[in-house]
This record gives sequence, C-alpha cells and structure tokens, in this order.
Amino acid sequence: MEFIIYTTATILLWVLSATWLLPVLIIFKFNKTCRDKWFSWFFAKVSESFFVSAMAKVRKHAFDLLKEHLGDRKRNTPLEILEIGVGGGPNLPYYPENSNLTVLDMNESSIEYFKENLKKHTKVIHKRTVIAMAEDMHELDNDSFDVVVCTYVLCSATNVRSVLKEVKRVLKPGGKFLFSEHIIYHSSTWNATLQRLVNPLWKIYFHGCNLNRKTDEEIKKAGFSDVVTEKYYPKEFWMYVRPQATGVATK
Ligand SMILES: C[S@@+](CC[C@H](N)C(=O)[O-])C[C@H]1O[C@@H](n2cnc3c(N)ncnc32)[C@H](O)[C@@H]1O
Repeated sequence: MEFIIYTTATILLWVLSATWLLPVLIIFKFNKTCRDKWFSWFFAKVSESFFVSAMAKVRKHAFDLLKEHLGDRKRNTPLEILEIGVGGGPNLPYYPENSNLTVLDMNESSIEYFKENLKKHTKVIHKRTVIAMAEDMHELDNDSFDVVVCTYVLCSATNVRSVLKEVKRVLKPGGKFLFSEHIIYHSSTWNATLQRLVNPLWKIYFHGCNLNRKTDEEIKKAGFSDVVTEKYYPKEFWMYVRPQATGVATK
C-alpha cells in the first residue's frame, strides 16, 4: 500500500512542480528571503504541530539517551549547551535542568520563533544567540561546551564534514554530541529510489534539506572517541523522512 501511495506522490510532486507549482519553485530557488521566511514559519508552526506526538516521542527519546550518557553530573554545575540549527526551539522542553544555552542558526527568521517560544520555557537560561553557518562557528571558542545538540540539521548542511569538525572543536574533551537526523533507506530499496527521485524538488521546497544522506555513517567517520547510534523507522512520519538515526557521540 505504502509503495503505491509514495510512488504516486512522487509522480504527482514532479507533475505539479513542472506545472502549477513552477512559479513557487522558481521563487524558492532564487529568492533567499522568501525561502528563509517560508521555511522558518513552516518548521516552527506547521511541521511540529502536524507531527506533534511523533516529534515529541523522538525528541524525548533523544534527550533520555543524552541523560544516560551524561551519567551522574553534579547538578549544581551548569551544563554548557550549544544547539546548532535551533529553528523555533522545539527542543526547549527537553533540556536538562541547570543548563546554559547558546543557540546558533543560519536563518535569522527562525530566531524570531525561537525567542517567542523561549518565553514559555522560563527554566532555560539562554546565554547567547549566534547567526552563523554551523560549518564555520569561529565566534565560539574551542573546548567550550559540555553538549552540542543537533536535530534535523545535517540533512541541510552544505558540508556535513565541516559541521562535524566544528562540533568537535567547540566540545570540551569528553563532551557529548546529541544528534537526531533522517537518513536514506538502504540503497537497493524502492524507498531509497523514491527518496533520490524526490530529492531535487524537496531540497528547493524545504530549504536545502536532503533525503539521500547517510549522516549516521558520516558521524561514525568523524573521529569521535565513541559513537552510539540507533536507527529506527517511525511509521508516524512520511516515508521520505524515514529511517531516522538518533545517537550520542563523545569527543
Ligand atoms: C529542519 S530545521 C530543524 C530545527 C530544529 N533543530 C528541530 O529539531 O526541529 C533546520 C534548522 O537548521 C538550520 N540550519 C540548516 N543548515 C544549517 C547550517 N549549515 N548552519 C546553521 N544552521 C543551519 C535551518 O535554518 C533551520 O532552522
């Protein structure tokens, strides 16, 4: 059944994109302001509400995993956390207590949603906002964070390896990198073929998001001392953004 639904959806998306949606596609492709505003609104207001229970489950699970990996930290010492690609701040409810939060995003429009959301989460100590690409975080010092959080960001990074290099640089020795990303199905499957076929359009509609990455493998190759990854296939999500990989890497 899913085979028929997603094959039809893929064909439909191409047909619509070549006809009715063509003007939208052209605007998104060439106008960065439109792209930034549309995507920050879509992700903060639509996607999180549409997949509310599925997203909450994934996020809670990721932060539970982080808690396990942090072990018995001293609760009176604040945890320095950096979240890259923070968007509208959907992870705010899940930060461990006594955390100092620095956020980074390349899209200034997202930060407006983040600030609005932050008002509802008064326990979070927001220290700093940086508007920058995660590929070059020179404004942040070496060895300065206990944790770097990154959820659904590496799919749209222009250079995943540079982001991971920067993450390692800003983490303190022994620091934790918490990630959750959608990745491509196994190469030989029909779902992977559909992901590859939709990718050129998806990238334009969803601000550079790629459906065809093996991000979990990139993280394993990035030189962390330890990487724990879980791969799962949440049925509540569209097939295009399955499977997902959640894990913790240690510097
Ligand atoms: C799909 S949204 C995810 C937002 C949030 N992390 C979440 O879990 O819902 C991706 C966010 O990462 C930001 N982003 C993508 N690539 C980036 C990069 N290379 N550097 C900095 N921010 C980036 C986008 O602007 C957007 O706000």
